[in-house]
Amino acid sequence: MIRGFARVMLGLFLPFVFLISGCSKPFVYPEDEHSQAEPPRSADWIAMLPEGEIRRQVVLGCTPCHQIGPPVAYRKSVEEWREVIGRMKKIDDDLDLSLIRLETEELAQWLATNAKLPKHGRYVATAPADIKEYPAGAKTGFYHDMAVSAGRAWIADYFGNKLYGVDVDTGAVEGFDLPVNVAPGKPGGAHQIDTTRDGMIWITFTKAEQVIRFDPVKKEFKVYSGFEKGGNVQYFVVDADRYIYEDAEGGIWMTHFSRVMLSRLDPKTGEIKVYRTAQHPYMPEKSVHLYAAVADSRGRLWFTETHGNRFGMLDPRTGEVMVKNMPEPWAGPKRLAIDKDDVLWIPELATGKITVYDTRRDKVVDWLTLPISGDFPYGIRRNRYTGDFWITGSGSDSLYRLDPKTRKFSIYRLPRRGAYTRTVSFADNGDIWTNYASFPNAHTQTPFDSGVVVRLRPQ
Ligand code: HEC
Repeated sequence: MIRGFARVMLGLFLPFVFLISGCSKPFVYPEDEHSQAEPPRSADWIAMLPEGEIRRQVVLGCTPCHQIGPPVAYRKSVEEWREVIGRMKKIDDDLDLSLIRLETEELAQWLATNAKLPKHGRYVATAPADIKEYPAGAKTGFYHDMAVSAGRAWIADYFGNKLYGVDVDTGAVEGFDLPVNVAPGKPGGAHQIDTTRDGMIWITFTKAEQVIRFDPVKKEFKVYSGFEKGGNVQYFVVDADRYIYEDAEGGIWMTHFSRVMLSRLDPKTGEIKVYRTAQHPYMPEKSVHLYAAVADSRGRLWFTETHGNRFGMLDPRTGEVMVKNMPEPWAGPKRLAIDKDDVLWIPELATGKITVYDTRRDKVVDWLTLPISGDFPYGIRRNRYTGDFWITGSGSDSLYRLDPKTRKFSIYRLPRRGAYTRTVSFADNGDIWTNYASFPNAHTQTPFDSGVVVRLRPQ
């Protein structure tokens, strides 16, 4: 296995070669797959762009905040594209995210030439579900993630620094001020919300550079500070049961969006220890976006680099670090999941595929294609109660369920256009939870003046 990785390390320093087949051929749906009843969605718009490096860069640069294309994020003329892309680059710079790598002029020309709004969406067979939406929080907020604990669904506002708990039975909402260390009116940058096995809520704050633990029963906060400045503390390492991973000594781990490193926090003492991973051969550290990570059964941490287009492993016991290129260029590995056999399920934002990698055999064992072309899967979560995977159909207003044995997908359509989702949570009664997580929130077309938590009950 180590030898396999060493080979890849060598490969990293060879020139980057693009191996995308059918590079410039636009995707055309067979006529009968269009349906008058289906509105065109973001995925339909992306599917019509010519496959290749630029399309993948558009997905990587433009979909981290909102859907691109319909319902609102599209333009027609090159002047309009130029204006809007300039505005987007400013938002990207102001938040110090380094997401949009293509030049404004090149991108404006390319989109004006290649982007077309399809008249209708594509028909797909969907699975039945009882879906309920729960409004919570300010409309101007940005709610990146959600988690369920203590009979409530929790969302946090990136800009407004507030936590909202929605009672899963009554829909009643309770709001809490988040005690983050930022100047009044500045965003704390609430990012991931997840839970440890004891039901505690944990939140990362990419702007305040803090982590907060919240006891949803006693309603008490504990604030952890001292994370690397400018690192954008981002994402808790999760385990196969989709809980926040706790190592043998009780430590929890997080990634940093702007650094190639992971941090370990001792929740008892507040001590933080930093573990560096590997620099990228040609990308500045800030642009690599070491995004998500999972822990295997031996306590090794497996991570993805979305823009760096690699995945890798850190073994905290030995300090060993290994990285591998994704099999495809500009694939955009995002929020991966791990199963009980230490197999990684890595969603590729820019290809709409899932790389399945067996860590024990050091081998890519499958490459699955989502049933909706042009979709960009932000996250895969393993349902601890059933072993199924749930994937966000972030560009198709849907959630997918994947049976890992048969490799069959079911599509559950969410009831709103622009229903951009980033995560899925699971309840022991079989309910599936997510939230509309677009920035800006208003790109999801709901009748509510608020954020929205969604409960999906497969029928
Ligand atoms: C860092 C987050 C972020 C990224 C990345 C981003 N956007 Fe946006 N986008 C926003 C926000 C916030 C708004 C609403 C404010 C505005 O329109 O200026 C918006 C609005 C838009 C709109 C206008 C929608 C309307 O109401 O008419 C378009 C079009 C758009 N984005 C396209 C793009 C494209 C193309 C890219 C990639 C080059 C991109 N966005 C990348 C955050 C982002």
